[in-house]
Amino acid sequence: MRASRYLKTSKYHVLYNEDCLETAQRLSDNFVDLIYTDPPFYTDRLFQRGNYRFDDRWDDVDEYMFWLKPRLQEFKRILKSTGSIYIHCDWHVSHNIKVLADKIFNRSNFLNEIIWKRQSSHNDASQGSRHYGRIHDSIFVYAMSSDYTWNQQYTPYSESYLKSAYRHVDPESNRKYALGDLTGPGGASKGNPKYEFLGAERYWRYSKQKMEKLLASGKISHKKGRLPYLKRYLDEMNGRQLQDIWSDIPPEKGNNYKYPTQKPERLIRRIVKTSSNEGQVLYDPFVGSGTSGVVCSRLSRNWIGSDISCEACNLTFERLQALDCQVFFEPWMNLHVCEPILVQE
Ligand SMILES: C[S@@+](CC[C@H](N)C(=O)[O-])C[C@H]1O[C@@H](n2cnc3c(N)ncnc32)[C@H](O)[C@@H]1O
Repeated sequence: MRASRYLKTSKYHVLYNEDCLETAQRLSDNFVDLIYTDPPFYTDRLFQRGNYRFDDRWDDVDEYMFWLKPRLQEFKRILKSTGSIYIHCDWHVSHNIKVLADKIFNRSNFLNEIIWKRQSSHNDASQGSRHYGRIHDSIFVYAMSSDYTWNQQYTPYSESYLKSAYRHVDPESNRKYALGDLTGPGGASKGNPKYEFLGAERYWRYSKQKMEKLLASGKISHKKGRLPYLKRYLDEMNGRQLQDIWSDIPPEKGNNYKYPTQKPERLIRRIVKTSSNEGQVLYDPFVGSGTSGVVCSRLSRNWIGSDISCEACNLTFERLQALDCQVFFEPWMNLHVCEPILVQE
């Protein structure tokens, strides 16, 4: 329990080399703001990359689910009511996990299944595969209540969309704009008001007062005999609201890629930015190479991580030290068990 004293300080990175069930049990109820969990996927493989390895072989799916259940239950206990959990998995057991997670976190708290396209293609037909290429992971997102932290993220518009939608230019200001529908979708059933505006009687998206304000501020485009449209200026737009298919983040490659199944920083960064704020606490039960710790250090979040593998913890420790991030590592002696690292306290 010694490490819990670090959690009283305002900024911390704490790493536990142990089963995540034990780590979660150390933490009090309603303590963490966000959990990103990337457990073994039930792949029936022994992963190895350089000196790093982890074993994802099980007797059967029941054994795996029996192992996972108490961990997810503990994760729920330690999450704040404003918190959320991201459960990373793939086709092997995603469907079993969804059923279990619906029960534990409550189906009504389910927000999304994010599809992360982790590679462009799987060309294994020549080796005898007779199925479509399996190129995506699933990430299930649950909030703990309706009052969860959410910072909307945006992605840049595609060139083709910019060309087709933002093809109008304001002659005076030279600003590019797109035309947006002002009629109220769903009509009366969605509570849209009906009135006459610029010669057309319709269900409109906004109140008459607001439409008049928009007109007065030059935000409405209107040609005789046609419906009015809203001018959406490109320089006022954030971009495209992030959707649930993420195909713009390639897998980790190159010198940075050290650990089997290591996730890219950009992927975790997106999750951390959306579902937490500066100074909040993220817990990653299966840190592997410590990607979430690196992201939390860069984004000023507090971080608690655990991994059963001491090699994984050492790698995580090294990555964090390289960022000048002070890490409390428990149990401290394990740092020296697998590979000695020079540690400055
Ligand atoms: C899919 S990898 C995590 C990869 C990580 N997200 C990254 O970016 O490097 C899963 C990790 O879970 C660890 N692990 C397996 N069983 C565990 C347990 N019961 N408690 C904690 N860690 C465990 C493995 O050692 C492995 O490092």
